[in-house]
Amino acid sequence: MYMSGLMRLQKFLSSGGIASRRAAEKLISEGRIKVNEKVVTEPGTKVDPLSDKVEVDNLPVTILKKKKYFLLNKPSGYLTTVKDPYKRPTVMDLIPKKFQEGLFPVGRLDLDTEGLLLMTNDGEMAFRLTHPRYEIEKEYLAQVKGTPSKDDLYLLRTGVVLEEGKTAPAKVEILSSGDKMSLLRIIIHEGKKRQIKRICAAVGHPVVFLKRNSYAFLNLGNLKPGLYRSLTEEEVQKLYRLLKLP
Ligand code: URA
Repeated sequence: MYMSGLMRLQKFLSSGGIASRRAAEKLISEGRIKVNEKVVTEPGTKVDPLSDKVEVDNLPVTILKKKKYFLLNKPSGYLTTVKDPYKRPTVMDLIPKKFQEGLFPVGRLDLDTEGLLLMTNDGEMAFRLTHPRYEIEKEYLAQVKGTPSKDDLYLLRTGVVLEEGKTAPAKVEILSSGDKMSLLRIIIHEGKKRQIKRICAAVGHPVVFLKRNSYAFLNLGNLKPGLYRSLTEEEVQKLYRLLKLP
């Protein structure tokens, strides 16, 4: 993630995943950062990422864990897990080896579900993204059998009773409908196991194809299935703010 050439200390710390921009500023002003053995309190100080020795609380930045954030367009046929005992393809196979250490998927998509999957080594962020308290919205495109009636839509929108209880209200829209199938846009902020398939089946319209289009403010854009990209620094900062991370 580091680039060659001089860069501001604050940016060096944030792009290395050591701290958010704001937290980096705080670390600097608190005198906790050393550059080439000297305490630096000026956030604008320029450093050369390749040759300067930067320390946080006397620990070289290079040995502190760099945070990684990837957005993957998961294709069907890949398990959402780090390792499969039966050696079936997993989402890790779609990320180069050099980025894999400590990386894990945020939440889960079924084997046959496609679409947006976040992967990170940031446990606190993953915990908050999947915790119901933060109500992170996830948008799905679901092709279902038949066409949901007004009553079916009402049930999906207000909550469906599953064995573990009633689901929270969802936003549901019919995008198109044909003789045998319809395409629905469904937005939920919970993450119950196989929630979309189970709520659709519960109202009599089983899912035949499912794709996650967006997660919070992130969407797939024109990322092709099987490909991934790093989140930008701005996207990471935005997630930090959204999740009230320091
Ligand atoms: N809901 C499902 O049923 N499956 C998924 O993969 C994601 C949400």
